[in-house]
Amino acid sequence: MTNAVVILAAGKGTRMQSDLPKVLHKVAGAPMLIHTMQSGEGVDAVRTIVVAGHGAELVEKAALAYNPDATIVLQTEQLGTGHAVDQARDTLADFDGDVFILYGDTPFIKSETLVAMKAKRDSGASVVVLGFKAREAGKYGRLITAIDGSLDAIVEAKDATAEQLTVDFCNSGVICAPRDVLFDLIAKTNNNNASGEIYLTDIVSLARADGLTCAAVECPEEETMGVNSRVDLSIAEAAFQSNARHEAMENGVTLSAPETVYFSYDTHIGRDVIIEPNTVFGPATTIESGATIRAFSHLEGCHVSSGAIVGPYARLRPGAEIGTNSKVGNFCEVKAAIVGDGAKVNHLSYIGDAEIGANANIGAGTITCNYDGVFKHQTIIGERAFIGSNTMLVAPVRVGDDAMTGSGSVITQDVSDTDLGLGRAKQANKAGLALRLMTKLKAAKAAKIKDS
Ligand code: UD1
Ligand code: MG
Repeated sequence: MTNAVVILAAGKGTRMQSDLPKVLHKVAGAPMLIHTMQSGEGVDAVRTIVVAGHGAELVEKAALAYNPDATIVLQTEQLGTGHAVDQARDTLADFDGDVFILYGDTPFIKSETLVAMKAKRDSGASVVVLGFKAREAGKYGRLITAIDGSLDAIVEAKDATAEQLTVDFCNSGVICAPRDVLFDLIAKTNNNNASGEIYLTDIVSLARADGLTCAAVECPEEETMGVNSRVDLSIAEAAFQSNARHEAMENGVTLSAPETVYFSYDTHIGRDVIIEPNTVFGPATTIESGATIRAFSHLEGCHVSSGAIVGPYARLRPGAEIGTNSKVGNFCEVKAAIVGDGAKVNHLSYIGDAEIGANANIGAGTITCNYDGVFKHQTIIGERAFIGSNTMLVAPVRVGDDAMTGSGSVITQDVSDTDLGLGRAKQANKAGLALRLMTKLKAAKAAKIKDS
């Protein structure tokens, strides 16, 4: 049976103290909402519906940027989780399958967990709830189970008896049910409870009253971590990073100081990559196996091929494509540029909007002058070219295969294959002038001291 995902994301998130809707605050470079959308991908959801309210326009923009096929429905008043899900009723009217309810502020639900819930559904339970054993059950809804382990009810803390409050098996909020069952049950809910809200959680006791079976699946508490404040956000970030480092090492990546390396939600790193301390990966970065990222480097939107060595102190910006066995050394910045296989950009360079051919050598301090104040222009450097130190390449410009530029040149015209381009002032030596000048200056200084 196919699946749909409904993500609740209408809440204000007052405790974030922010103009930005809560679900758009980022963990590992992506809005929490996107993490939740990613979880839904694990059950191959054919429909994704985001229930937006506060900051709906921004939420819609972020959701569609990630998945253009997502549907945004509006919940203008936040009347409770049951009411929120009900906003997806019309959109799902023609959908025949299971619906997973997820929260946009609960970013770490694993796809495997949703798959386990699906298995419970397939084994006959009509409503499947994801629960966890809480260290402090506090305000969470309590899962009330029968002797056979099936689920009888979810009782919100505010409505619970003293005995029910002693239960530590809590509701994560994630629920799975077939579309028709879900909306039939929601239609029977009301707000006759301690909060005056329409509780989604009431569907469990309503299902039981109809003779349907309900079940709970358990996951670790960490997975259900929700974010309500900036402090929670920092805890979520730390949890993500700790997992990502662990996972990278399990997959064959060497991290000599794991706690100083920061990953994004979509960082891909191959086997036998070595990552030195204090490296930061922004979004959309892939490092192929056998590459080395040396200390204090910052990489985003780039691809590093196998055997390449990047850093220390390198900055790779979006569109940097670093070839096999090439080198980008200290204090070099590369943006929207291909560094060919075996090419070297070792010291103090800016390479932007450029193509560097295989095995070319870019001398220290070389700069591609790519921007004229209005337009960006390309620099093309051929294979095995040798760019002298401190060359300014004023784009658009091409330096051919096996060509050279003299150190300190300002290259404004193309240099053909095998040619040497020289664009610098001619040197003139004045015999003995250094000594004569120095003697004169020293005498002037001595005269000044005497006068004062
Ligand atoms: C809910 C559950 C509780 C569970 C807890 C887990 C209900 C009634 N209670 O309680 O059993 O233990 O989550 O964290 O479901 N939202 C909307 N529109 C609304 C109301 C909520 O979009 O009208 C969204 C919120 O933005 C949030 C999520 O739904 O992302 C949960 O709402 P929240 O108010 O935090 O529910 P809890 O009281 O925490
Ligand atoms: Mg909550």
